[in-house]
Amino acid sequence: MYQLSPSMLSADFNRLGEQLKMIEDSGVKWLHIDVMDGDFVPSISFGMPVIASIRKESGLFFDVHLMVSNPDRYIDDFAKAGADMITVHAEACRHLEGCISDIHKAGCKAGVALNPATPLCQLEYVLHKLDMVLLMTVNPGFGGQSYIEKSTDKIKDLKEMIQSRGLETDIQVDGGVNSKTIDKVLEAGANIIVAGSAVFGGDIRANIENFQEAFKRYE
Ligand code: DX5
Ligand code: ZN
Repeated sequence: MYQLSPSMLSADFNRLGEQLKMIEDSGVKWLHIDVMDGDFVPSISFGMPVIASIRKESGLFFDVHLMVSNPDRYIDDFAKAGADMITVHAEACRHLEGCISDIHKAGCKAGVALNPATPLCQLEYVLHKLDMVLLMTVNPGFGGQSYIEKSTDKIKDLKEMIQSRGLETDIQVDGGVNSKTIDKVLEAGANIIVAGSAVFGGDIRANIENFQEAFKRYE
């Protein structure tokens, strides 16, 4: 039920294949792949060719977080590159409902991401179609930022919204999740945990074990 989705953005790109193998060997099932376009967010990261390349060697579930404007343009490209799940930002998408359908048609699971200031009511008429909601717990764009405390209430509210509709939508949190903040996000109801610097900074295997231990406290 709980999954750690290490954010590749914080990996050492000079040793990417080796580090991805290491996380897979440690029992991790998901990989969070942050795509940034320099427009929706200030920074630029990587795109389809990098994903297609790591797809050849990896059995991880590719959880692709598109921080790009008008992501509708790229759904098929990311599906072909090897995405298993595609998450688009509600703020970046002109026709969110259609985009979610396109993601499913492309054979992927569909997620919608909300920035910290975006209210949950944006999900009102699409929640039933989603496999996952990603709540940004920092403003998107960079790894290594601090968790925004107000996010804890938002996770609880989303959990309530999902349960009141009899849904089983996954709740992903992304940004500033580490050994100090993990308990509050799990307690609030998140079950898919993105972590970049807290996985790839220092001893990767030990970091992963810490997250796995935390999950056990809530299972
Ligand atoms: C931020 C990205 C995150 C980021 C998380 O815009 O969406 O996935 O890599 O990094 P940490 O865990 O270091 O905050
Ligand atoms: Zn992300």
